[in-house]
Amino acid sequence: MFDSPLIDSLLIRIFRFRTRGFLRMEEADGAVPAAPRDDGAYLYVHVPFCEVLCPFCSFHRVQHCHEQARRYFAALRREIQLYHAAGHKFSGVYFGGGTPTTEPEELAATIGLVRSLFGVREISVETNPKDLRPAVMTTLRDAGVTRLSVGVQSFDDQLLREMDRYEKYGSAEEIVAHLRAAAGLFPTLNVDLIFNQPHQSLASLERDLDIFESTGANQVSCYPLMTSPTVLRRMRDTMGAPDPRRLRTFYQAIQRRLQPAFAPTSAWCFTRRGGGGDEYIVAAENYVGVGSGAFSYLDGTLHATTFSLQSYERRIAQGLTGIVARHRLGAGDRMRYTLLVRMFGLGLDREWALQRHGRKFFRTLWGELRTLEVLGAARRDARGWRLTERGMYWLMLMMSEFFESVNEYRDAMRAHVHDEMEAAQRATTPSLAAAGELATPG
Ligand SMILES: C[S@@+](CC[C@H](N)C(=O)[O-])C[C@H]1O[C@@H](n2cnc3c(N)ncnc32)[C@H](O)[C@@H]1O
Ligand code: SF4
Repeated sequence: MFDSPLIDSLLIRIFRFRTRGFLRMEEADGAVPAAPRDDGAYLYVHVPFCEVLCPFCSFHRVQHCHEQARRYFAALRREIQLYHAAGHKFSGVYFGGGTPTTEPEELAATIGLVRSLFGVREISVETNPKDLRPAVMTTLRDAGVTRLSVGVQSFDDQLLREMDRYEKYGSAEEIVAHLRAAAGLFPTLNVDLIFNQPHQSLASLERDLDIFESTGANQVSCYPLMTSPTVLRRMRDTMGAPDPRRLRTFYQAIQRRLQPAFAPTSAWCFTRRGGGGDEYIVAAENYVGVGSGAFSYLDGTLHATTFSLQSYERRIAQGLTGIVARHRLGAGDRMRYTLLVRMFGLGLDREWALQRHGRKFFRTLWGELRTLEVLGAARRDARGWRLTERGMYWLMLMMSEFFESVNEYRDAMRAHVHDEMEAAQRATTPSLAAAGELATPG
């Protein structure tokens, strides 16, 4: 009875209303924020460089330029040292982008620094299928990478062409060969797929999942296509616009196809049962984001760094972090944020919430928790609340809604640095510039 588009859109409206204050950012001075109270924080390192700028991509990314990337990595290392000097501790590190493997040696040096300063146990790196070459794999293995995450998006050649990835990152057949060669080299090999692409059929998605299973990779992250006004504009001519009414059918197909061989580790990540990747931490309570276009969440405060690479380098040279904006969430928002992240990670432990937020957590969120129970999205047990199969779909929708609001923030920030990005892209792709074919970067 609750599995209807009406309930979906009602839930999303309520979610939007209750979380509308999450990203009200104000200017910040760039000083290192105080270390969080608990020691399990994660370090997120943003590397914005890519060889092609895919039209659907909602992240902060710029055209790769070797000299600029080398300077950027040097600045990253200085920023990481700042956090160390201020007493921050990290249990794991995540290199995301963009494409961190555009400069493998610089990446390895940065991983080396993080390992020596913080003794991290988990080291996760994002890459593209083309970078799964033996030389890069050896560098990453020697550096101690424990999880490699490969952006595949689809194994359908037609969709890869629409996404402008076929030429640069290879056909489905080439991607599969690369993945097979990389399987087993790292404790976790993750494949990113995107579902609900405008021209994707259900059969094409099901084929993607079957092909994924045949590659030997032991984890898959299935993201719904998340947009923003800018992303939609860029996609219009090649990929078209996604239809939200198809989300449930696609998502249920993913659940059906992957289970029981794969178990969910969040509402959109599935890990092979018994594989080394089972211990992958879905959501650390606190995380520090370094680099340009990164976010941190520390004891209830969100911080955002500058989207200008020039300004980032300047700030680091002055002994500052890249932080230019922050927002201290109110008590209610902090609790709602915790509930979103925990339930997305499949469950909320009562004791854990009690320790962090006190009894008021259950009083404030009584309505939310009760709604989840009544809808059959969560079930109570001795430890707290567990997400059900049905609830996974709604949490996937809510998280995607949250990320779309982050995308809008990214759009606004990139608009500020539009001229700088356009000049950088012109410098790295002069032939396109001469032909007047430059796409708006971002
Ligand atoms: C930041 S990218 C890094 C991966 C690597 N650069 C590549 O594309 O091969 C990480 C993942 O984000 C996902 N992603 C990017 N834009 C997205 C969007 N608009 N909606 C959903 N997922 C998206 C893709 O699955 C991508 O693999
Ligand atoms: S999907 Fe990956 S390669 Fe494409 S623009 Fe985004 S980060 Fe770069």
